Amino acid sequence: MDYRRTYLRDLFNLAPGSKTSAYGWIKTRRDSKTVHFVQLSDGSTFQDLQVVIPEGLLSEAVLKTLTTGASVRFDGEIVQSPGENQPIELLASGAEVYGPADPAEYPLQKKGATMEFLREIGHLRGRGNTFGAVFRVRNAAADAIHQFFQKRGFNYINTPIITASDAEGAGAMFQVTTLVGHEETKDGLRYKLDKTDPAEDFFGKPSYLTVSGQLEAETLALGLTNVYTFGPTFRAENSNSARHLAEFWMVEPEMAFCSLEGNMNLAEEFLKEVIATVMERCPKDFEFFNQRIEPTLFETLNHVVNSPFERLTYTEAVKMLEASGESFEFPVGWGTDLQSEHERWLTEKKVGRPVILTDYPKEIKAFYMRQNEDGKTVRAMDVLAPRIGEIIGGSQREERLDVLEARIKELGLPIEAYWWYLDLRRYGSVPHAGFGLGFERLLMYITGMKNIRDVIPYHRTPGSAEF
Ligand code: 4AD
Ligand code: MG
Repeated sequence: MDYRRTYLRDLFNLAPGSKTSAYGWIKTRRDSKTVHFVQLSDGSTFQDLQVVIPEGLLSEAVLKTLTTGASVRFDGEIVQSPGENQPIELLASGAEVYGPADPAEYPLQKKGATMEFLREIGHLRGRGNTFGAVFRVRNAAADAIHQFFQKRGFNYINTPIITASDAEGAGAMFQVTTLVGHEETKDGLRYKLDKTDPAEDFFGKPSYLTVSGQLEAETLALGLTNVYTFGPTFRAENSNSARHLAEFWMVEPEMAFCSLEGNMNLAEEFLKEVIATVMERCPKDFEFFNQRIEPTLFETLNHVVNSPFERLTYTEAVKMLEASGESFEFPVGWGTDLQSEHERWLTEKKVGRPVILTDYPKEIKAFYMRQNEDGKTVRAMDVLAPRIGEIIGGSQREERLDVLEARIKELGLPIEAYWWYLDLRRYGSVPHAGFGLGFERLLMYITGMKNIRDVIPYHRTPGSAEF
Protein backbone atom coordinates (compact mmCIF):
# COMPACT_ATOMS: atom_id res chain seq x y z
CA MET A 1 0.00 0.00 0.00
CA ASP A 2 1.69 3.15 -1.21
CA TYR A 3 0.47 6.74 -0.94
CA ARG A 4 0.96 7.03 -4.69
CA ARG A 5 -1.88 4.59 -5.37
CA THR A 6 -5.11 5.64 -7.05
CA TYR A 7 -7.62 7.68 -5.04
CA LEU A 8 -11.31 7.71 -5.96
CA ARG A 9 -10.85 11.23 -7.35
CA ASP A 10 -8.46 9.83 -9.99
CA LEU A 11 -10.37 6.65 -10.51
CA PHE A 12 -13.31 8.51 -12.05
CA ASN A 13 -10.99 9.53 -14.89
CA LEU A 14 -10.06 5.95 -15.81
CA ALA A 15 -11.39 4.51 -19.07
CA PRO A 16 -13.80 1.56 -18.97
CA GLY A 17 -11.80 -1.66 -19.09
CA SER A 18 -9.08 -0.36 -16.72
CA LYS A 19 -8.09 -2.71 -13.92
CA THR A 20 -7.70 -0.96 -10.60
CA SER A 21 -8.20 -1.07 -6.83
CA ALA A 22 -10.45 1.20 -4.79
CA TYR A 23 -9.84 1.92 -1.11
CA GLY A 24 -12.32 3.56 1.22
CA TRP A 25 -15.14 3.33 3.73
CA ILE A 26 -18.56 1.91 2.95
CA LYS A 27 -21.34 4.49 2.98
CA THR A 28 -24.25 2.17 2.12
CA ARG A 29 -24.90 -1.33 0.90
CA ARG A 30 -27.84 -2.68 -1.04
CA ASP A 31 -28.54 -6.23 -2.26
CA SER A 32 -30.47 -7.75 -5.15
CA LYS A 33 -30.82 -11.43 -6.07
CA THR A 34 -27.78 -11.50 -8.35
CA VAL A 35 -25.53 -8.67 -7.16
CA HIS A 36 -24.56 -6.56 -4.14
CA PHE A 37 -24.05 -2.79 -4.46
CA VAL A 38 -21.72 -0.85 -2.22
CA GLN A 39 -21.23 2.95 -2.19
CA LEU A 40 -17.60 3.58 -1.38
CA SER A 41 -16.00 6.87 -0.33
CA ASP A 42 -12.46 7.93 0.51
CA GLY A 43 -12.98 11.67 0.98
CA SER A 44 -10.81 12.58 -2.02
CA THR A 45 -13.90 13.77 -3.88
CA PHE A 46 -17.58 14.32 -3.19
CA GLN A 47 -18.61 11.54 -5.57
CA ASP A 48 -18.98 8.01 -4.17
CA LEU A 49 -17.89 5.02 -6.19
CA GLN A 50 -20.48 2.36 -6.84
CA VAL A 51 -18.97 -1.10 -6.51
CA VAL A 52 -20.85 -4.04 -8.02
CA ILE A 53 -20.19 -7.41 -6.39
CA PRO A 54 -21.54 -10.41 -8.30
CA GLU A 55 -23.33 -12.97 -6.15
CA GLY A 56 -20.98 -15.84 -5.32
CA LEU A 57 -17.76 -13.82 -5.65
CA LEU A 58 -17.20 -13.37 -1.90
CA SER A 59 -17.70 -15.79 0.94
CA GLU A 60 -20.68 -15.28 3.28
CA ALA A 61 -18.22 -14.39 6.06
CA VAL A 62 -16.69 -11.52 4.04
CA LEU A 63 -20.08 -10.35 2.71
CA LYS A 64 -21.36 -10.07 6.25
CA THR A 65 -18.67 -7.52 7.12
CA LEU A 66 -19.42 -5.24 4.13
CA THR A 67 -21.54 -2.86 6.18
CA THR A 68 -21.70 0.92 6.62
CA GLY A 69 -18.46 2.26 8.10
CA ALA A 70 -16.26 -0.74 7.26
CA SER A 71 -12.94 0.03 5.57
CA VAL A 72 -12.16 -2.07 2.54
CA ARG A 73 -10.24 -2.48 -0.71
CA PHE A 74 -12.01 -3.68 -3.83
CA ASP A 75 -10.06 -4.95 -6.83
CA GLY A 76 -11.79 -4.99 -10.17
CA GLU A 77 -12.49 -3.37 -13.50
CA ILE A 78 -13.95 0.01 -14.40
CA VAL A 79 -17.18 -0.42 -16.37
CA GLN A 80 -19.71 2.02 -17.74
CA SER A 81 -22.59 2.34 -15.31
CA PRO A 82 -26.15 1.74 -16.43
CA GLY A 83 -27.33 3.84 -13.47
CA GLU A 84 -28.01 7.56 -13.77
CA ASN A 85 -26.11 8.67 -10.67
CA GLN A 86 -22.62 7.85 -11.86
CA PRO A 87 -20.81 7.58 -15.19
CA ILE A 88 -18.74 4.55 -14.21
CA GLU A 89 -18.67 1.87 -11.54
CA LEU A 90 -16.27 -0.81 -10.38
CA LEU A 91 -17.08 -4.42 -11.16
CA ALA A 92 -15.40 -6.22 -8.29
CA SER A 93 -13.26 -9.32 -8.71
CA GLY A 94 -11.99 -9.40 -5.11
CA ALA A 95 -12.14 -7.60 -1.77
CA GLU A 96 -10.21 -7.23 1.45
CA VAL A 97 -11.84 -5.84 4.57
CA TYR A 98 -9.36 -3.93 6.77
CA GLY A 99 -11.65 -2.88 9.60
CA PRO A 100 -15.25 -3.98 10.05
CA ALA A 101 -17.75 -1.69 11.85
CA ASP A 102 -20.43 -3.48 13.83
CA PRO A 103 -23.76 -2.26 12.37
CA ALA A 104 -25.39 -2.57 15.78
CA GLU A 105 -22.97 0.02 17.18
CA TYR A 106 -21.55 2.21 14.40
CA PRO A 107 -22.77 5.73 15.27
CA LEU A 108 -22.65 7.31 11.82
CA GLN A 109 -25.32 5.42 9.94
CA LYS A 110 -28.53 7.24 10.70
CA LYS A 111 -29.77 9.19 7.71
CA GLY A 112 -30.72 12.77 8.55
CA ALA A 113 -28.59 12.99 11.71
CA THR A 114 -28.68 16.52 13.14
CA MET A 115 -25.64 18.82 13.10
CA GLU A 116 -25.72 18.75 16.92
CA PHE A 117 -25.50 14.97 17.00
CA LEU A 118 -22.72 14.96 14.41
CA ARG A 119 -20.76 17.40 16.60
CA GLU A 120 -20.89 14.81 19.41
CA ILE A 121 -19.27 12.30 17.08
CA GLY A 122 -16.87 14.84 15.64
CA HIS A 123 -14.19 12.18 15.34
CA LEU A 124 -16.31 10.30 12.77
CA ARG A 125 -18.25 13.04 10.99
CA GLY A 126 -15.48 13.63 8.43
CA ARG A 127 -16.63 10.42 6.73
CA GLY A 128 -20.01 11.85 5.80
CA ASN A 129 -21.05 13.96 2.81
CA THR A 130 -21.41 17.27 4.61
CA PHE A 131 -18.15 17.26 6.54
CA GLY A 132 -16.15 15.73 3.73
CA ALA A 133 -17.27 18.71 1.65
CA VAL A 134 -16.65 21.23 4.46
CA PHE A 135 -13.09 20.08 5.06
CA ARG A 136 -12.21 19.82 1.37
CA VAL A 137 -13.43 23.39 0.95
CA ARG A 138 -11.52 24.46 4.08
CA ASN A 139 -8.36 23.04 2.53
CA ALA A 140 -9.01 24.69 -0.85
CA ALA A 141 -9.66 28.04 0.84
CA ALA A 142 -6.44 27.88 2.87
CA ASP A 143 -4.50 27.12 -0.30
CA ALA A 144 -6.24 29.93 -2.21
CA ILE A 145 -5.39 32.39 0.59
CA HIS A 146 -1.69 31.55 0.46
CA GLN A 147 -1.68 31.77 -3.32
CA PHE A 148 -3.43 35.12 -3.27
CA PHE A 149 -0.73 36.66 -1.09
CA GLN A 150 2.22 34.79 -2.58
CA LYS A 151 1.33 35.99 -6.08
CA ARG A 152 1.39 39.56 -4.77
CA GLY A 153 4.75 39.28 -3.05
CA PHE A 154 3.49 39.18 0.56
CA ASN A 155 5.76 37.34 3.00
CA TYR A 156 4.11 34.66 5.14
CA ILE A 157 5.15 35.19 8.76
CA ASN A 158 4.34 33.36 11.99
CA THR A 159 3.60 35.53 14.99
CA PRO A 160 3.74 34.23 18.58
CA ILE A 161 0.84 32.28 20.01
CA ILE A 162 1.92 33.12 23.55
CA THR A 163 2.25 36.83 24.17
CA ALA A 164 2.47 39.35 27.00
CA SER A 165 0.59 42.11 25.16
CA ASP A 166 -3.11 42.54 24.55
CA ALA A 167 -3.29 43.30 20.82
CA GLU A 168 -6.88 44.48 20.88
CA GLY A 169 -6.76 46.10 24.31
CA ALA A 170 -10.07 44.42 25.02
CA GLY A 171 -8.92 42.05 27.75
CA ALA A 172 -10.64 38.86 26.55
CA MET A 173 -7.50 36.75 26.89
CA PHE A 174 -6.69 33.26 28.18
CA GLN A 175 -3.86 33.37 30.67
CA VAL A 176 -0.91 31.03 30.25
CA THR A 177 0.63 30.04 33.57
CA THR A 178 2.50 27.24 35.26
CA LEU A 179 1.78 28.58 38.74
CA VAL A 180 -1.49 26.70 39.03
CA GLY A 181 -1.43 22.98 39.67
CA HIS A 182 -4.04 20.38 40.57
CA GLU A 183 -4.61 18.44 43.73
CA GLU A 184 -6.91 15.59 44.68
CA THR A 185 -9.02 16.57 47.66
CA LYS A 186 -11.93 14.81 49.32
CA ASP A 187 -14.18 16.99 47.12
CA GLY A 188 -12.44 15.82 43.94
CA LEU A 189 -9.95 17.60 41.70
CA ARG A 190 -9.15 21.17 42.81
CA TYR A 191 -6.86 23.88 41.50
CA LYS A 192 -3.92 24.68 43.70
CA LEU A 193 -2.03 27.97 43.48
CA ASP A 194 1.65 27.20 44.06
CA LYS A 195 2.93 30.77 43.92
CA THR A 196 1.34 34.17 43.55
CA ASP A 197 4.13 36.34 42.14
CA PRO A 198 3.91 36.78 38.35
CA ALA A 199 7.71 37.22 38.32
CA GLU A 200 7.97 33.55 39.30
CA ASP A 201 5.73 32.42 36.48
CA PHE A 202 7.15 30.58 33.47
CA PHE A 203 7.75 33.70 31.36
CA GLY A 204 8.57 35.96 34.28
CA LYS A 205 5.44 38.05 33.73
CA PRO A 206 1.75 37.50 33.03
CA SER A 207 1.30 36.00 29.56
CA TYR A 208 -1.63 35.00 27.43
CA LEU A 209 -2.78 33.23 24.29
CA THR A 210 -2.79 35.82 21.54
CA VAL A 211 -6.03 37.45 20.35
CA SER A 212 -4.36 38.65 17.14
CA GLY A 213 -0.92 38.62 15.52
CA GLN A 214 -1.36 42.18 14.31
CA LEU A 215 1.08 44.06 16.51
CA GLU A 216 3.94 41.70 15.73
CA ALA A 217 2.91 41.66 12.05
CA GLU A 218 3.24 45.46 12.06
CA THR A 219 6.84 45.17 13.24
CA LEU A 220 7.71 42.96 10.27
CA ALA A 221 5.71 45.03 7.77
CA LEU A 222 7.86 47.99 8.79
CA GLY A 223 10.84 46.19 7.31
CA LEU A 224 9.51 43.70 4.78
CA THR A 225 6.69 46.03 3.58
CA ASN A 226 4.03 43.41 2.84
CA VAL A 227 3.46 40.48 5.20
CA TYR A 228 0.62 38.21 6.30
CA THR A 229 -0.08 35.79 9.10
CA PHE A 230 -2.39 32.77 9.00
CA GLY A 231 -2.65 31.21 12.41
CA PRO A 232 -4.73 30.37 15.46
CA THR A 233 -6.04 33.12 17.73
CA PHE A 234 -7.90 32.87 21.02
CA ARG A 235 -10.63 34.86 22.70
CA ALA A 236 -12.02 34.24 26.15
CA GLU A 237 -15.34 35.95 25.40
CA ASN A 238 -18.14 34.09 27.10
CA SER A 239 -20.21 34.16 23.96
CA ASN A 240 -22.14 31.07 22.95
CA SER A 241 -23.26 32.37 19.55
CA ALA A 242 -23.26 30.59 16.20
CA ARG A 243 -20.51 32.98 14.99
CA HIS A 244 -17.99 32.92 17.86
CA LEU A 245 -15.25 30.47 18.75
CA ALA A 246 -12.77 30.67 21.61
CA GLU A 247 -10.10 29.33 19.23
CA PHE A 248 -10.27 30.42 15.61
CA TRP A 249 -7.93 30.98 12.68
CA MET A 250 -7.16 34.44 11.44
CA VAL A 251 -5.52 35.75 8.28
CA GLU A 252 -3.84 39.10 8.87
CA PRO A 253 -2.13 41.01 6.07
CA GLU A 254 -0.21 44.16 6.98
CA MET A 255 1.13 46.69 4.48
CA ALA A 256 3.61 49.52 4.93
CA PHE A 257 3.20 52.66 2.83
CA CYS A 258 -0.52 51.96 2.53
CA SER A 259 -3.63 53.89 3.50
CA LEU A 260 -7.15 52.75 4.32
CA GLU A 261 -8.11 52.95 0.63
CA GLY A 262 -5.38 50.48 -0.29
CA ASN A 263 -6.48 48.26 2.58
CA MET A 264 -10.09 48.25 1.35
CA ASN A 265 -8.96 47.46 -2.18
CA LEU A 266 -6.91 44.52 -0.93
CA ALA A 267 -9.78 43.17 1.20
CA GLU A 268 -12.22 43.32 -1.70
CA GLU A 269 -9.84 41.71 -4.21
CA PHE A 270 -8.96 39.09 -1.62
CA LEU A 271 -12.53 37.96 -0.88
CA LYS A 272 -13.46 37.89 -4.55
CA GLU A 273 -10.43 35.93 -5.67
CA VAL A 274 -10.52 33.40 -2.82
CA ILE A 275 -14.23 32.69 -3.29
CA ALA A 276 -13.90 32.35 -7.09
CA THR A 277 -10.86 30.06 -6.78
CA VAL A 278 -12.50 27.74 -4.27
CA MET A 279 -15.73 27.49 -6.28
CA GLU A 280 -13.75 26.56 -9.35
CA ARG A 281 -11.71 23.95 -7.51
CA CYS A 282 -14.59 22.23 -5.66
CA PRO A 283 -17.61 22.28 -8.02
CA LYS A 284 -19.20 19.08 -6.68
CA ASP A 285 -18.95 20.23 -3.08
CA PHE A 286 -20.58 23.56 -3.96
CA GLU A 287 -23.39 21.80 -5.81
CA PHE A 288 -24.06 19.91 -2.59
CA PHE A 289 -23.96 23.04 -0.38
CA ASN A 290 -26.27 24.84 -2.76
CA GLN A 291 -28.76 21.96 -2.89
CA ARG A 292 -28.70 20.81 0.71
CA ILE A 293 -27.35 23.56 2.95
CA GLU A 294 -28.14 27.02 1.57
CA PRO A 295 -30.37 27.42 -1.49
CA THR A 296 -29.19 30.96 -2.27
CA LEU A 297 -25.50 30.05 -2.15
CA PHE A 298 -24.59 30.21 -5.85
CA GLU A 299 -26.57 33.34 -6.32
CA THR A 300 -24.99 35.23 -3.43
CA LEU A 301 -21.44 34.04 -4.07
CA ASN A 302 -21.56 34.86 -7.77
CA HIS A 303 -22.93 38.24 -6.85
CA VAL A 304 -20.06 38.84 -4.42
CA VAL A 305 -17.48 37.85 -7.01
CA ASN A 306 -18.97 40.03 -9.74
CA SER A 307 -20.20 43.24 -8.15
CA PRO A 308 -18.26 46.02 -6.43
CA PHE A 309 -18.59 46.20 -2.63
CA GLU A 310 -20.50 49.18 -1.29
CA ARG A 311 -18.34 51.61 0.75
CA LEU A 312 -20.04 53.69 3.44
CA THR A 313 -18.96 55.50 6.56
CA TYR A 314 -20.26 54.38 9.92
CA THR A 315 -22.06 57.73 10.22
CA GLU A 316 -23.87 57.20 6.89
CA ALA A 317 -24.82 53.66 7.92
CA VAL A 318 -26.25 54.80 11.25
CA LYS A 319 -28.39 57.37 9.43
CA MET A 320 -29.71 54.64 7.12
CA LEU A 321 -30.47 52.36 10.06
CA GLU A 322 -32.26 55.14 11.92
CA ALA A 323 -34.34 55.92 8.85
CA SER A 324 -35.08 52.24 8.14
CA GLY A 325 -38.30 51.99 10.14
CA GLU A 326 -37.22 48.49 11.26
CA SER A 327 -37.78 47.49 14.86
CA PHE A 328 -34.40 46.17 15.97
CA GLU A 329 -33.82 44.30 19.20
CA PHE A 330 -30.88 46.61 20.01
CA PRO A 331 -31.35 50.35 19.46
CA VAL A 332 -29.06 52.12 16.97
CA GLY A 333 -27.59 55.54 17.50
CA TRP A 334 -24.31 57.28 16.69
CA GLY A 335 -21.65 56.00 19.07
CA THR A 336 -23.06 52.53 19.69
CA ASP A 337 -21.48 49.42 18.21
CA LEU A 338 -23.46 47.79 15.41
CA GLN A 339 -25.07 44.47 16.28
CA SER A 340 -25.28 41.59 13.88
CA GLU A 341 -28.96 42.40 13.15
CA HIS A 342 -27.92 45.89 12.02
CA GLU A 343 -25.07 44.56 9.91
CA ARG A 344 -27.38 42.05 8.27
CA TRP A 345 -30.04 44.65 7.54
CA LEU A 346 -27.44 46.83 5.82
CA THR A 347 -26.00 44.08 3.67
CA GLU A 348 -29.11 42.00 3.01
CA LYS A 349 -31.97 44.49 2.88
CA LYS A 350 -30.42 47.86 2.11
CA VAL A 351 -27.50 47.09 -0.18
CA GLY A 352 -27.80 43.42 -1.22
CA ARG A 353 -24.05 42.70 -1.29
CA PRO A 354 -20.98 43.12 0.95
CA VAL A 355 -20.51 46.53 2.51
CA ILE A 356 -17.29 48.09 3.78
CA LEU A 357 -18.03 50.42 6.67
CA THR A 358 -15.34 52.94 7.62
CA ASP A 359 -14.59 55.67 10.12
CA TYR A 360 -16.13 54.30 13.29
CA PRO A 361 -16.26 56.25 16.56
CA LYS A 362 -12.91 55.84 18.32
CA GLU A 363 -14.59 54.73 21.56
CA ILE A 364 -15.79 51.45 20.06
CA LYS A 365 -12.54 50.57 18.26
CA ALA A 366 -9.04 49.48 19.32
CA PHE A 367 -6.35 51.90 20.51
CA TYR A 368 -4.07 51.49 17.48
CA MET A 369 -6.41 52.87 14.81
CA ARG A 370 -5.48 56.13 13.10
CA GLN A 371 -7.44 59.11 14.37
CA ASN A 372 -9.29 61.35 11.95
CA GLU A 373 -9.14 65.13 12.00
CA ASP A 374 -12.66 65.33 13.48
CA GLY A 375 -11.28 64.05 16.78
CA LYS A 376 -14.19 61.61 17.06
CA THR A 377 -13.64 58.86 14.49
CA VAL A 378 -10.84 56.51 13.45
CA ARG A 379 -9.76 54.99 10.14
CA ALA A 380 -11.37 51.64 10.84
CA MET A 381 -12.97 49.36 8.28
CA ASP A 382 -15.27 46.39 8.76
CA VAL A 383 -16.30 44.26 5.82
CA LEU A 384 -19.86 43.05 6.36
CA ALA A 385 -21.30 40.18 4.36
CA PRO A 386 -24.93 39.14 3.84
CA ARG A 387 -26.00 36.20 6.08
CA ILE A 388 -23.18 36.55 8.63
CA GLY A 389 -22.32 40.20 9.23
CA GLU A 390 -18.69 41.08 10.07
CA ILE A 391 -16.20 38.92 8.21
CA ILE A 392 -13.17 41.27 8.19
CA GLY A 393 -12.02 43.93 10.63
CA GLY A 394 -9.12 46.24 9.89
CA SER A 395 -7.78 49.77 9.90
CA GLN A 396 -5.10 52.21 8.96
CA ARG A 397 -2.77 52.25 11.98
CA GLU A 398 -1.84 55.30 14.03
CA GLU A 399 1.71 56.05 12.88
CA ARG A 400 2.16 59.33 14.84
CA LEU A 401 4.05 58.68 18.07
CA ASP A 402 2.51 61.49 20.12
CA VAL A 403 -1.07 60.66 19.09
CA LEU A 404 -0.61 56.94 19.81
CA GLU A 405 1.02 57.53 23.19
CA ALA A 406 -1.76 59.89 24.19
CA ARG A 407 -4.43 57.36 23.20
CA ILE A 408 -2.80 54.48 25.10
CA LYS A 409 -2.63 56.66 28.22
CA GLU A 410 -6.17 57.93 27.77
CA LEU A 411 -7.43 54.34 27.71
CA GLY A 412 -5.39 53.42 30.79
CA LEU A 413 -3.47 50.66 28.96
CA PRO A 414 -0.04 49.71 30.38
CA ILE A 415 2.21 51.88 28.24
CA GLU A 416 5.44 50.08 29.29
CA ALA A 417 4.18 46.88 27.67
CA TYR A 418 3.96 48.62 24.30
CA TRP A 419 7.53 50.01 24.26
CA TRP A 420 8.51 48.10 21.13
CA TYR A 421 5.27 48.99 19.37
CA LEU A 422 5.95 52.66 20.10
CA ASP A 423 9.54 52.31 18.83
CA LEU A 424 8.12 51.58 15.38
CA ARG A 425 6.67 55.09 15.49
CA ARG A 426 9.85 56.53 16.94
CA TYR A 427 12.15 55.24 14.20
CA GLY A 428 11.17 55.33 10.52
CA SER A 429 7.43 55.36 11.03
CA VAL A 430 5.24 55.14 7.92
CA PRO A 431 1.53 55.13 7.15
CA HIS A 432 0.48 51.49 7.23
CA ALA A 433 -2.66 49.41 7.28
CA GLY A 434 -3.96 45.88 7.51
CA PHE A 435 -6.89 43.69 8.37
CA GLY A 436 -7.93 40.42 9.97
CA LEU A 437 -10.17 37.87 8.30
CA GLY A 438 -11.83 35.28 10.52
CA PHE A 439 -11.16 32.10 8.53
CA GLU A 440 -14.18 30.26 9.96
CA ARG A 441 -16.45 33.24 9.24
CA LEU A 442 -15.29 33.07 5.63
CA LEU A 443 -15.98 29.34 5.55
CA MET A 444 -19.48 29.82 6.95
CA TYR A 445 -20.07 32.33 4.23
CA ILE A 446 -18.85 30.22 1.35
CA THR A 447 -20.36 26.90 2.45
CA GLY A 448 -23.65 28.25 3.80
CA MET A 449 -23.14 26.31 7.06
CA LYS A 450 -25.16 27.95 9.81
CA ASN A 451 -22.99 27.30 12.85
CA ILE A 452 -19.31 28.18 13.13
CA ARG A 453 -18.79 24.93 15.10
CA ASP A 454 -19.39 23.05 11.86
CA VAL A 455 -16.60 24.57 9.76
CA ILE A 456 -13.69 23.70 12.08
CA PRO A 457 -12.73 20.10 12.90
CA TYR A 458 -13.04 20.54 16.67
CA HIS A 459 -14.67 23.60 18.14
CA ARG A 460 -13.51 25.36 21.29
CA THR A 461 -16.39 27.27 22.86
CA PRO A 462 -17.42 27.98 26.47
CA GLY A 463 -17.80 24.62 28.21
CA SER A 464 -16.53 22.60 25.27
CA ALA A 465 -13.02 21.30 24.60
CA GLU A 466 -13.81 17.73 23.47
CA PHE A 467 -11.42 15.83 21.21
O1 4AD B 1 -12.21 42.54 14.24
P1 4AD B 1 -11.14 41.78 14.95
O2 4AD B 1 -11.21 41.70 16.42
O3 4AD B 1 -9.78 42.45 14.46
C1 4AD B 1 -8.53 42.15 14.92
O4 4AD B 1 -8.25 41.28 15.69
C2 4AD B 1 -7.47 42.96 14.24
N1 4AD B 1 -6.25 42.88 15.07
C3 4AD B 1 -7.23 42.47 12.85
C4 4AD B 1 -6.21 43.25 12.10
O5 4AD B 1 -6.45 44.41 11.76
N2 4AD B 1 -5.06 42.66 11.81
O6 4AD B 1 -11.08 40.31 14.38
C5 4AD B 1 -10.89 40.08 12.99
C6 4AD B 1 -11.87 39.06 12.45
C7 4AD B 1 -13.33 39.47 12.60
O7 4AD B 1 -13.74 40.32 11.57
C8 4AD B 1 -14.03 38.12 12.55
O8 4AD B 1 -14.15 37.68 11.21
C9 4AD B 1 -13.04 37.21 13.24
O9 4AD B 1 -11.78 37.86 13.20
N3 4AD B 1 -13.40 36.96 14.65
C10 4AD B 1 -13.86 35.79 15.10
N4 4AD B 1 -14.13 34.63 14.48
C11 4AD B 1 -14.59 33.62 15.23
N5 4AD B 1 -14.79 33.68 16.57
C12 4AD B 1 -14.53 34.83 17.25
N6 4AD B 1 -14.69 34.87 18.57
C13 4AD B 1 -14.04 35.95 16.51
N7 4AD B 1 -13.68 37.21 16.85
C14 4AD B 1 -13.28 37.80 15.71
MG1 MG C 1 -13.99 43.49 14.68
